[in-house]
Amino acid sequence: MKTLWLDTIDSTNSEALRRLPDLPSCTVLSAREQTAGRGQRGNTWFSEPGKNLTFSIVLKFGLGAVSARDAHYLNCLASLSVVSLLDSFGIRSQIKWPNDIYVGKRKICGMLLENTLCTTGLAASVIGIGLNVNQTAFPRLANATSVALELGQVHPMEWDLAQTLECLLRLFEERLPLLSSPEGRQELMADYTARLFRKDVPAPYRDLLQDREFTGVIEGVEPDGRLRVRDAEGGKRFFRFKEISYLL
Ligand code: BTN
Repeated sequence: MKTLWLDTIDSTNSEALRRLPDLPSCTVLSAREQTAGRGQRGNTWFSEPGKNLTFSIVLKFGLGAVSARDAHYLNCLASLSVVSLLDSFGIRSQIKWPNDIYVGKRKICGMLLENTLCTTGLAASVIGIGLNVNQTAFPRLANATSVALELGQVHPMEWDLAQTLECLLRLFEERLPLLSSPEGRQELMADYTARLFRKDVPAPYRDLLQDREFTGVIEGVEPDGRLRVRDAEGGKRFFRFKEISYLL
């Protein structure tokens, strides 16, 4: 993977999408500072300049190599890379479906995946990752954490961002071939499911389509990427992104 370091940019995802025709597959754009970092649901992603990793991985696919209905395996791949990196630091994290990374009840990493399609499936994917590394105060966010906050006592030093990114990209590359075969995708899904936040734990949710709260138990993720939740009556409910919210 080749990483291009940018000093200041609006958003590494926006820049990657603008430069998509010229960027080879497996190029990474990483910024010291984003002035308009983008999050899920049109939110802004705030990150203290020079403190955290904010980067986008560009993947380009051969004709028909990844079908559009398999796009969610990119979430598995990206999420597992971050979880494995944090494991190597001794931080136990979980994946809040589809791709938020949590340590306990605090979010340490968010992702924004933006895909382009062609007639045969996925043409390219821009995998934007914001991982909190050295930032220790989050004035605007109540439930954010970082590597430094989690390991402050053990490692009271700044983490080298370039080295941390390199480790993360190595872990990403190791699993990348799994995308290409049914067995590989099964393995990705099994590893991903094993680290799902709130799996098998009764907890409150809001069904956003029916605008109703309910208690449910996350059982897993369907092969098409939908979250499978068992409700109190034993019924199975299936949710796409933005159809369910987790209540605390
Ligand atoms: C979220 O949790 O809402 C998703 C946050 C994604 C943030 C990353 S930072 C690098 C990349 N560039 C962006 O503008 N967003 C993503």
